[in-house]
Amino acid sequence: MRVAMIGTGYVGLVSGACFADFGHHVTCVDKDVNKIGALQRGDIPIYEPGLADLVRANVREKRLEFSMLLPEAVRQAEAVFIAVGTPSRRGDGHADLSFVYAAAREIAARLSGFTVVITKSTVPVGTGDEVERIIRELRPDADVAVVSNPEFLREGAAVRDFKHPDRIVVGCEDERARKVMAELYRPLYLNASPILYTQRRTAELIKYAANAFLATKITFINEVADLCERVGADVREVARGVGLDNRIGTKFLHAGPGFGGSCFPKDALALIKIGQDHEAPLRIVETVVAVNDQRKRAMARKVTAALHGNVRGRIVAVIGLTFKPNTDDMREAPSIALITALQDMGAQIRAYDPAGMEQARAMLQGVTYCDNPYSCAEEADALVIVTEWEQFRALDLTRLKGVMARPVLVDLRNVYREDEIRRHGFDYHGIGTMPAGEAPWSGMPALTGAAAS
Ligand SMILES: NC(=O)c1ccc[n+]([C@@H]2O[C@H](COP(=O)([O-])OP(=O)(O)OC[C@H]3O[C@@H](n4cnc5c(N)ncnc54)[C@H](O)[C@@H]3O)[C@@H](O)[C@H]2O)c1
Repeated sequence: MRVAMIGTGYVGLVSGACFADFGHHVTCVDKDVNKIGALQRGDIPIYEPGLADLVRANVREKRLEFSMLLPEAVRQAEAVFIAVGTPSRRGDGHADLSFVYAAAREIAARLSGFTVVITKSTVPVGTGDEVERIIRELRPDADVAVVSNPEFLREGAAVRDFKHPDRIVVGCEDERARKVMAELYRPLYLNASPILYTQRRTAELIKYAANAFLATKITFINEVADLCERVGADVREVARGVGLDNRIGTKFLHAGPGFGGSCFPKDALALIKIGQDHEAPLRIVETVVAVNDQRKRAMARKVTAALHGNVRGRIVAVIGLTFKPNTDDMREAPSIALITALQDMGAQIRAYDPAGMEQARAMLQGVTYCDNPYSCAEEADALVIVTEWEQFRALDLTRLKGVMARPVLVDLRNVYREDEIRRHGFDYHGIGTMPAGEAPWSGMPALTGAAAS
């Protein structure tokens, strides 16, 4: 089948390459001349494990091409995906749909023959209706069906997620379009990935509800972590004890510096706005967003506490800048709020990330960027792990201690065990655990003796 993918970002490029790998003929279109130029030269503009090989193999097989010419790609296609960005709209937090609607207008002008237009971008309920209205208004003659097919891939594991999804959601009310969707995803269907066919509006809401739920799970365990620190419990064991309940599950129960990234913050905000617009407020999600916003900056206070309340003139080394490992994506990364707050408090920042340095440089000024974790830690008064890249899991602690001014480790991802770190002479501060030697907060003493029974 001939496919046009409009928007060649994280989602468009991964989806386009995977559909090509399934055997379809895909043209990935983007307005960004640098992006398309790089892809046409064989350079991959984003860091995503396995993607470069997949793209090159399918380009070689002539199933995948890159173009700035939307009209040509759409004219030939039986399936046209809209995979453009839907960022938060400045000022009010609603999803900015201007890229989606602009793409719909451009697509409408070039439709020929029966075409399925599929929204893969994350969009508010009713966007499919509006995309359809735009197309029908501009091209009353067009034979078109508009489908919602939200994407659930995770950056850092995007190719794997696309090829082995937990489910594929298709919001579709047209029998011919349903057949096209089944054909597109047939290789996955053969692998037994369930396809959930539903109404278009339902599909649009599934995506937001899923992201808001995951964001809630993270925020819940982060607040439990704060409580653990006060009462002398260990959040890692609480999370395990809770998560082993099959009704809850262990995933997304890792306490940390707060969620970031290109999706959770903007999607949770957009869902709040959808709820408010429809007089069905989502109070839990509203709280999740507020708690998470405060948490990212609060992590700077944790670093300050580890340095006995003052970071002015101190050197803080930060390793792991991207919002999660295995991506170069810095959008809404917790490291941004943390570093900015530490700079506000007078700290000097040294930083290192395995893949996100270029994007970080564009976002964070006044930072000394380093080549590896060890050069980053040189002369530092504290080392902060913000993102749990694999290569930070087995750092040479002796070497680190040798280059640092003070052996203080603030581990915002609980990568290390406190006893192990202390054995190497470090002062250790994790998340949701109480540093050894500190007594639980005594405002409300633990129940003892008769009172407990
Ligand atoms: N990044 C993720 O992990 C992820 C996961 C699931 C869903 N999503 C959703 O998918 C959508 C895309 O996200 P992304 O991270 O890939 O965005 P992105 O910003 O990386 O890429 C979007 C691309 O679309 C291009 N574009 C915009 N208008 C265009 C037009 N009219 N014609 C051609 N190209 C155009 C932009 O130049 C850009 O390259 C968003 O709605 C997002 O919420 C993202």
